[in-house]
Amino acid sequence: MGKLKNKIAVITGSGRGIGRATAELFAKEGCKVVAVSRTEKELKELEEKTKNYQGKIYPFKADITLKEEVDKIFDYVENKFKRLDILINNAGITYPGSIFDMDPDKFLYCLKLNIWSAFLCTQRAVRIMAKEGKGKIINVGSVCSHWAGYGSAGHYIASKYGLKGFTEAVMREMQDKGLNISVGMVCPGIVDTTLTNPKGEIRENWLKPETIAEAIFFAVTNPENVNVYDIIIFPNWQKVW
Ligand SMILES: NC(=O)c1ccc[n+]([C@@H]2O[C@H](COP(=O)([O-])OP(=O)(O)OC[C@H]3O[C@@H](n4cnc5c(N)ncnc54)[C@H](OP(=O)(O)O)[C@@H]3O)[C@@H](O)[C@H]2O)c1
Repeated sequence: MGKLKNKIAVITGSGRGIGRATAELFAKEGCKVVAVSRTEKELKELEEKTKNYQGKIYPFKADITLKEEVDKIFDYVENKFKRLDILINNAGITYPGSIFDMDPDKFLYCLKLNIWSAFLCTQRAVRIMAKEGKGKIINVGSVCSHWAGYGSAGHYIASKYGLKGFTEAVMREMQDKGLNISVGMVCPGIVDTTLTNPKGEIRENWLKPETIAEAIFFAVTNPENVNVYDIIIFPNWQKVW
C-alpha cells in the first residue's frame, strides 16, 4: 500500500524538474496531487504518464506570482477535497547576474516567485490544514539558503535565505498555536534540471531530481507529530560554502 494513499497534496512547479519527480513519486505512493505550473502540456504529459499509478495527478495551470491564480488553486482544493494534507512550495527561478549589471526587475521577480508566492500558497494552505489541525509543508530551498556559495547580484541567495527565515517563522507559529502542521525545508545543491542545464547536456555528477523527490517524500511521510525541519543534500564534489 502506498505511504501516501488518499493524501491530498499541492505541488507547485510540477511540470518539470524536482517538482515533477516529486509529483510522480507521490502519485506512485497513492497521493492525489494537484500539480501546478504554467505549461499545460507538461502537466498533461505528467497526468498521462501516471494514469495507472495508485494515486492521481490533477493538473492545474496557474501562475503562482498572481494572487488571484493562487486563490483559484486553493479554492479548487477546498471545494473538491475539503482538506489538504501536504503543500510543497517548489516552483522557483534563478538568473545568472552580477551586482554590476543585474536588471532590478529580475531581482524583484526572483524574490516574488521564490518567497512571496510561497507565502501566498502557505497562507491558504495553513487555513485549510488548521481545520484538521495537521499537515505537512515543505519549502524547496537550496544550499543557497545556508551559504552564499558564489558571488553574484545576490537575488537568488537573498530569496533562498529569505525562504529559510519564512520557513522558521511559520514553523514556530504552528508550534505556538499547538497545531500539528510541520513546516520544513529541503535544500538541494546542484540538480540536473532545465533550470540549471537548459540544453540537457550530460551531467552525470549532478544530483538527479528523483533524489530530491525522495528527500521530500521522507519529510512528509514521518508521523504527524514529527517535524523534519531541514534536509541539505549536495554532491560530494560540490563546495557549497
Ligand atoms: N536545479 C537545481 O540545481 C536546484 C538547486 C537548488 C534548489 N533548486 C530549487 O528547486 C526548485 C525547482 O527547481 P528546478 O530546478 O526543478 O526548476 P525547473 O526545472 O525550472 O522547474 C521549475 C518548475 O516551476 C514552474 N514554474 C516556474 N515559474 C512558475 C510560476 N510563476 N507559476 C507556476 N509555476 C511556475 C515551471 O513551469 P512553468 O515554467 O511551465 O510555469 C516548472 O514546472 C526551485 O525552487 C529551485 O530554486 C534547484
